[in-house]
Amino acid sequence: MLFSAFILASCTNNPKPASEEDRFIDELLGKMTLAEKVGQLNQYTSRWEMTGPAPTENKGAQDLLQELKSGMVGSMLNVNGAEATRKAQQTVVENTRLGIPLIFGYDVIHGYKTMFPIPLAEAASWNPELARLSSQIAAKEAAASGINWTFAPMVDVGRDARWGRVMEGAGEDPFLGSEFAKARVQGFQGEDLADELTIAACAKHFAGYAFSDAGRDYNSVEIGNETLHNIVLPPFKAAAEEGVATFMNGFNTINGLPVTASSYLQRDLLKGEWGFDGFVVSDWNSIGEIEIHGAAANLKECADRAIKAGSDMDMEARAYIKHLEELVKEGQVDETLITEAVRRILRIKYRLGLFDDPYKYCNAENEKKLIYTNENRAAARKVARESMVLLKNNKHILPLATNAKSIALIGPLANDKDSPLGNWRAKAESQSAVSLLEGMQAAIGQTTRLNYAEGCKLSIGPRNFTDRMIFNESDRSGFTKAVAAARKSEVVVLAIGEDCYQSGEGRSMTDIRLKGLQQELFDAIYQVNKNIVVVLMNGRPLAIPEIAEKSAAILEAWHAGSEAGHAIADVLFGKYNPSGKLPVTFPRNVGQCPIFYNYKNTGRPTGMTDAWVLYSCYNDAPNSPQFPFGYGLSYSTFNYDNLVLDQSSIEKGDKLKVKVSVTNKGELDGEEVVQLYIRDIAATYARPVKELKGFEKVMIKAGETKEVEFTLTEKELGYYFPCGKYVVEPGEFQVFVGSNSVDVLQEQFTIK
Ligand code: NOJ
Repeated sequence: MLFSAFILASCTNNPKPASEEDRFIDELLGKMTLAEKVGQLNQYTSRWEMTGPAPTENKGAQDLLQELKSGMVGSMLNVNGAEATRKAQQTVVENTRLGIPLIFGYDVIHGYKTMFPIPLAEAASWNPELARLSSQIAAKEAAASGINWTFAPMVDVGRDARWGRVMEGAGEDPFLGSEFAKARVQGFQGEDLADELTIAACAKHFAGYAFSDAGRDYNSVEIGNETLHNIVLPPFKAAAEEGVATFMNGFNTINGLPVTASSYLQRDLLKGEWGFDGFVVSDWNSIGEIEIHGAAANLKECADRAIKAGSDMDMEARAYIKHLEELVKEGQVDETLITEAVRRILRIKYRLGLFDDPYKYCNAENEKKLIYTNENRAAARKVARESMVLLKNNKHILPLATNAKSIALIGPLANDKDSPLGNWRAKAESQSAVSLLEGMQAAIGQTTRLNYAEGCKLSIGPRNFTDRMIFNESDRSGFTKAVAAARKSEVVVLAIGEDCYQSGEGRSMTDIRLKGLQQELFDAIYQVNKNIVVVLMNGRPLAIPEIAEKSAAILEAWHAGSEAGHAIADVLFGKYNPSGKLPVTFPRNVGQCPIFYNYKNTGRPTGMTDAWVLYSCYNDAPNSPQFPFGYGLSYSTFNYDNLVLDQSSIEKGDKLKVKVSVTNKGELDGEEVVQLYIRDIAATYARPVKELKGFEKVMIKAGETKEVEFTLTEKELGYYFPCGKYVVEPGEFQVFVGSNSVDVLQEQFTIK
């Protein structure tokens, strides 16, 4: 009898108490040979889709089949579709001695086929509920296609606009990042991992990957332990507390140590202190890259270091499959380490219900009916419009009237049906997004003339691993038509920004201004029409000082997903009152990077005296950003007053209530994100000038006043010492409440 049949008979469909899970896994482990155990730790990519450089020894389909049949593979990534996953699963379940099912992983980052806005954009909604919803729908679509595991959420706190992967995270703040990390884990995993429409999530990249020197992807990371504990780790801890099933480590070193070989991070902290009982997968060949970093002499040493450090599954390095057995036989690695890693992997397979039915996710019926539905697309539109940030709106030029006489729609992104899908687009069909042109056509009244012109081509980011960026710096042939369209229109909507592959993995930039001829196009239009509403579509903060100064309005729309055009039109024409706030600081120029709101004061901050030389500032530009963290306008105006604390002094462990009144002075109902920051004025280790510790998104009717209340507890008032110990220190604190990290009301209290 096949072992899987035995397993089927021995399990029920009800949620299992932990002891049953343990008994099941113990029994299975007891039957496994060392080779079978090592097989469980080995993960291969499919050959038809690669999300990393090809392995040096690229095996053919026959070899792979053979390895699957002989139990040498515990997981696959990049296999998708109910049929393909069923086939691969069948190969393993029916041919291996124990029939242990595979777990199929895939990068489902902001949707599977229905694309939601890129994660950075979703964070701009400051509404974690939306991220929960989009992750839930993404999980449903992926699960219907045979996937059991997503390599998301990326919870790296990203401070550097040069780093292409800022698009994939929730921005620069650990508090906001933690809220989004939790929401995404909930969305992907739901209440029950065994539900056939939920999938396992993966908090990545553990840890510090976003702090690569100079914003260059994969570069070394040099950070102190204070930054590690207070900035980098909190969203990971939040994900672990939320019960995330897996973690992924990273490509980077921290202060010389490859994180894949860090037993402090993986064993002491994650699996020890935080009590994480899922498994850690390496990043693509990050085990093999230990050697390239210069921290192991060969692949065998890489395997040795990684397994000892607590990296459980080897993605595409083939280090474990080649060397672990040998290392155990030589007495170099204790078999219990391997058994422990396998236990963790089996645990997640068990919780997914794969032992009950290895094919439960390969459901062709579900695949037909649950993917890219009207309902999912409606949700994508809802999430997209709430993710947009209104950065400027002079003289209330927005919202546009749907019966305006003439509107020019210009720009290389105006009729782009692909870029809005963004990078990391899983199974989205290329060219499937609603373009802004389509969105506006659907929104305008019959009497409005829409004068469309492309203006210029975009510069194109690399599609394939060997591509280079293609710049358009000379083709101005579309300018004449664009200028004519602008001249004959009351207002110009100018869609500019980044091509979808200009941000994302491996897309670092030394220049974050608009690429190619876009600025020049703006300037040419500006000569004939000053009413320019800029719609930005991009995956990172851009440096746009001239546009910030000269445009009439700016809407940051990001790469907004499948329904982008409709969602942008909803905002432009006032069907939705914008409510997004920046989750990252927008610099004035690239030289300010990394720039972030929660900086430390330094011993020589500017503003202490009139002098500026010998104070901490640039000589050629201000320190302040173009647009600060938390910033975003609405078609309404919100006034803040009556900031009141319920006590001026509290004991350690007490709660402090903070109240503020927010009034909608505008004529439209609108949502406002009320933000609370603190500053610990004198601490053992200097604390940031502001730290976000609470936010609430509230709907306030025109003319209405709402009281918003926050409660501060030890959880918000302390910080980590560099050794990793959490402390609340007595002394003076400031508390700030307002509509962004700069415009705030301020009060003070003491912890005795
Ligand atoms: C490398 C990326 O860093 C990681 O985030 C991704 O999940 C893997 N490739 C798999 O595609």
